[in-house]
Amino acid sequence: MPSQTHLDTLLPSVSPSEHSQSQPCLNTHIGQLPLDSYIFNASGPLCTSEEELIRLAGSASAAVMTKSCTILPREGNAEPRYQALPLGSIQSMGLPNLGYQAYLEMLPRLKKAGNKPIVVSVSGFSVADNVTMVKAFQSSCADLIEVNFSCPNIEGKPQLGYDFEQTEQALEAICQLGDKPIGLKLPPYFDFSHFITMADIIKKFPVSFITCINSVGNTLVIDAETETAIIKPKGGFGGLCGDYIKPIGLANVRAFRQLLPDNIDIIGVGGIKTGTDAFEYLLAGASAVQVATCFEKEGVECFDRIAQELQSLMAAKQYSSIAAVKGKLKVI
Ligand code: FUM
Repeated sequence: MPSQTHLDTLLPSVSPSEHSQSQPCLNTHIGQLPLDSYIFNASGPLCTSEEELIRLAGSASAAVMTKSCTILPREGNAEPRYQALPLGSIQSMGLPNLGYQAYLEMLPRLKKAGNKPIVVSVSGFSVADNVTMVKAFQSSCADLIEVNFSCPNIEGKPQLGYDFEQTEQALEAICQLGDKPIGLKLPPYFDFSHFITMADIIKKFPVSFITCINSVGNTLVIDAETETAIIKPKGGFGGLCGDYIKPIGLANVRAFRQLLPDNIDIIGVGGIKTGTDAFEYLLAGASAVQVATCFEKEGVECFDRIAQELQSLMAAKQYSSIAAVKGKLKVI
């Protein structure tokens, strides 16, 4: 495997002002929706309030993605519920959000602020919740609807994506509610039988995209000095994010890319903080990537930086477009 240092030697040092039209083009699409860039925020940090979403609208993020919403507003789990770690973070936020009606009402203002695609994320606690929210957003100015089947942080609510029967029932209910493209945010899978079962279910429905992966749920980080778990909710169990999970995210994107037809796009998430990370997801078959932990740590500046690093790497390798690299992973 090439080392980071080796890959860095391929990168010409290009300052932002030196970027010109001859740079590789990062245009892409999700479910027929064109995107001006390959990189946007994940439903996670810094996308809950109108102020945060307006900031995203004015940034280099390819789209504005909202925090997963529920029927009613939620404060989320008790604090401390997020801790940065050397190579990422552990969190159990518990879906703090303003409630779907607040996002519905806000969407025209977000559209006006950024004139870019808006992706709404919904995370109902039942099929009926998801039907209510998907129906409402089907009649809104949202461009894509991502249905979150994988939040690991609600006590007593298992991740839907690990229950194949219920996943199928939910898809039956939410896929016929309108013409806007629907996607699913999936939990990480770790066995080929699970990739195959989930892909076979998805193929039965008009799903336009999947987003792989949510955090690796129910992990535990312990502070040996204080002898305590480092977050409070669920006795310390929380979703692991960042560099730790990149190989899992890459494997899920790759496996689903091999199992699903080309008209179902895959959005990669998990440990993307450099242009090289974004490029690896592209090789695995991602049509776009979302950034969470790095966005939380660095702010909206990360989108332009990662895009520029990706363009520099692609230029050094003489690739001119996303399509030229997508899914082209070599195996030995
Ligand atoms: O706890 C949370 O708000 C995380 C949501 C998710 O992982 O989908």
